[in-house]
Amino acid sequence: MLNKFLFFVFLFVVFLQFGFVDDDPYFTITKKDVAFKIPKGFPKPNYSFSDNPITPKGFILGRKLFYDTLLSLDNSISCGSCHQQYAAFAHIDHSLSHGIKDRIGTRNVSALQNLIWNKNFMWDGGINHIEVQPIAPLTNKLEMAETLDGIVAKLKLRPDYQKAFYEAFNDSIISTERIMKSLTQFMGLMVSSNSRYDKYITGKEKFTLSEKKGLDLFRSKCATCHKEPLFTDHSFRNNGIAPNPMLNDKGRAIITENEDDNYKFKVPSLRNVELTYPYMHDGRFRNLTEALNHYGNSTSFAAGTDELVGKIGKLTKEETEDLRSFLLTLTDKTFIYDRRFADPNFSR
Ligand code: HEC
Ligand code: HEC
Repeated sequence: MLNKFLFFVFLFVVFLQFGFVDDDPYFTITKKDVAFKIPKGFPKPNYSFSDNPITPKGFILGRKLFYDTLLSLDNSISCGSCHQQYAAFAHIDHSLSHGIKDRIGTRNVSALQNLIWNKNFMWDGGINHIEVQPIAPLTNKLEMAETLDGIVAKLKLRPDYQKAFYEAFNDSIISTERIMKSLTQFMGLMVSSNSRYDKYITGKEKFTLSEKKGLDLFRSKCATCHKEPLFTDHSFRNNGIAPNPMLNDKGRAIITENEDDNYKFKVPSLRNVELTYPYMHDGRFRNLTEALNHYGNSTSFAAGTDELVGKIGKLTKEETEDLRSFLLTLTDKTFIYDRRFADPNFSR
């Protein structure tokens, strides 16, 4: 009896070893896993990986760095602390970002998806290349508050990183440039293109009547700025929300120093918008209904509102509900549950 029991335990252990562990995409990143293909119907990306070809080991290093708290001054937070996969790499607990020692930032955490199509990064577009973007959070006093030299020095002391850099770049030199390149390999592959909307467009799925009406409304009232298929035209606009008196964030004008750009912000993609609440650059709206009510209520529009927003007009309750149903079709579960992007520290 006991023998039989032990035999089954033995079988179970063998199953654990060879059954799903070997199939686990987390541990077996292959060339196929990191092959980049432009999704059907998407435009040509702005960043091509030609100077930074993605390899499985480069991607794994980027992921390790993205989820490592070592990159912050007091080793307390990582990129992944603010950018959480279940929220399309935005952050849902609070409206403004929280850095080391609970320092409160000045803006709502952006979702990370389809980044290689971006020409500019951040709500004000202050950064224009994906490979230098990480320098901002790494060194921002309200976020990770480290120095680039400090990070390189900490990584050099770690045998696991010496090995990981060696595997990714064929020698063990640890440099800022390589940190940026591997982070870009990881973040650049974060592509969301498999929502119900995408399946509807390619004829693989049907919409309900409400979703269909929502899409039509969206195309007539919203899609100039939130342009398909990326759901942004990458421009900076004033969508009519009043300036936040606590922050007085001038948005794009901080970068261009042009008064015409006062209170203009990047048009965010609406992919996965169901999961990226709270909304707007300061996280002022807690849910989609609040955001939609803003667009449907012209009496609250601030000075300088873009005329395309001015033209939206009153939205009835039914129209708001249809728009909301449509926006929910932009949720991409394949992306949210993609094991390639999961946190290694919590993966099992
Ligand atoms: C303390 C929270 C926090 C941490 C930590 C953090 N970020 Fe962010 N991230 C933000 C906020 C807030 C924004 C929007 C900033 C702005 O508009 O000024 C943002 C924006 C971005 C963007 C721009 C997205 C876009 O579409 O414009 C990228 C890319 C990004 N972060 C990557 C990273 C990487 C890589 C790391 C780690 C090196 C990191 N972030 C660490 C809060 C954080
Ligand atoms: C004139 C361009 C423009 C039009 C038209 C427009 N938007 Fe926006 N939208 C923006 C900008 C800019 C922001 C970010 C504003 C900010 O944070 O200050 C935004 C933000 C949003 C957000 C919040 C997203 C997030 O991640 O925070 C939602 C939701 C949204 N828009 C939905 C819509 C819908 C639905 C319509 C049509 C009824 C619409 N928008 C029409 C420019 C536009």
